[in-house]
Amino acid sequence: MSTIRAAITAVGHWVPEKILSNHDLEKMMDTNDEWIRTRTGIRERRILEKGATSDLGAGAVQDMLRKRGMSAEEIEVLIVATVTPDMFFPATACMIQEKIGAKHAWGFDFSAACSGFVFALTVGSQLIESGTYKKVVVVGADKMSAITDYTDRNTCILFGDAGAAVLLEPSSDPSLGIIDHRLYCDGSGGRYLNMLGGGSLNPPTHETVDKKMHFIYQDGKAVFKVAVIGMAEVSYEIMKRNNLTGKDVDWLVPHQANLRIIDACAERMELDKSKVMMNIDRYGNTTAATIPLCLSEWQLSGKLKKGHHCVLSSFGAGYTWGAVYLKWAY
Ligand code: UT7
Repeated sequence: MSTIRAAITAVGHWVPEKILSNHDLEKMMDTNDEWIRTRTGIRERRILEKGATSDLGAGAVQDMLRKRGMSAEEIEVLIVATVTPDMFFPATACMIQEKIGAKHAWGFDFSAACSGFVFALTVGSQLIESGTYKKVVVVGADKMSAITDYTDRNTCILFGDAGAAVLLEPSSDPSLGIIDHRLYCDGSGGRYLNMLGGGSLNPPTHETVDKKMHFIYQDGKAVFKVAVIGMAEVSYEIMKRNNLTGKDVDWLVPHQANLRIIDACAERMELDKSKVMMNIDRYGNTTAATIPLCLSEWQLSGKLKKGHHCVLSSFGAGYTWGAVYLKWAY
C-alpha cells in the first residue's frame, strides 16, 4: 500500500468573455428564458469565438501556475480531459504543453465526457501515489460550441465553453488530499448521448455533414432518468464507504448538467443546499470543465477551506459516472 497521498495544491480557470444568454437564444429559435431556467437552471453560457480547446486549457493552466507561483517547466505530466480535442491527433495535451512551455512534461488526452475530470483526477492521483511523479496537472476543458447545433433547441441551450485545471502533488499532511474514488461506465448508454460522425465508424463525408452527425445528439429524457439516479447513488455510496453523513460533508461539487439532477443528488446525500457548489446559471454545461471550474471559483472566493470534506460527482456520456472524496489540502 502506498503511503503517499495525492492532493490538489493549486487550481485555476479560464473562460471566454463572450456571453450567450437565454435572451440571445430566444432571438435565434423557438425557446424562452423561463423554460430554460426552470428546466435546467441555466441563465447564460460562455462562447469561445476564436481559438480551440487548447486555448481554454492553456489559459486555465497559466492561471493555476500564477496562483501557485510555479513555472510551467516544473510540470511533469499533463492530463487533459475533453471531448472536444483541437483535432483527433496530436493530443490536445501536446498543444497545451507547447502553448504554456511545459518543456519537461509528457501528457495525454482522456475521453470520458462529463465524467472526464473525475476519471482523469483519479488517474493523475495514482501517478502521484505510485511515487513516480510529484507534479501532475489535470485539465478539464471543452469548447462545446464547436460541436453544438445552434438550430437544435434540445441541446444548444445546455452547453458552454470553459477550461479549468488542478495541480496534484504529494500531500504534506497525509490526512489531507484525495481519499477515495468510485468510477463506473456502462456502454449500453452510448446511443442516448453521442456524436456519431467523424470517427472510424462514420468518417466525415458530405452525408455525415448533411445528417448533422458532427454535432452532439442527446435523448435528454432518457439521459435525465439515469443521470438523476446515477449521480445521486454514487455520491451516496462514496459517503457511506467513508462513514460520512450529510453533516460531515462540507461541499458537494457536482457536474453541472441540470439543476434538478444536482438537487436530487444533494437530497440523497441529505445535504443542505448551501453546501452545494453551483455555477450552472452562469456557464451551463461545460462538460469536463464543470467540476474544476467550481473548485477554482470557490477557492478564489475563500469559501473552500483547508480540511473541508468534498465529494466530487459526475454523470455523462458513455454512460460514465463516478465520485471522488477528498479533503481540501490548502
Ligand atoms: O452532461 C451530460 C449528461 N446530460 C444530462 O444530464 C442532461 C439530462 N437531461 C436533461 O437535463 C433534460 O432532459 C433536458 C434539460 C435536456 C430537457 O428537459 P426535459 O424536462 O426532459 O424536457 P423534454 O426534453 O421532455 O421536453 C419537454 C417539452 C417538449 O415539448 P412537448 O413535447 O412536451 O410539447 C420539448 O419539445 O419542452 C420542449 N422543449 C423546449 N421548449 C422550449 C425542448 N427544448 C426546449 C427549449 N425551449 N429549448
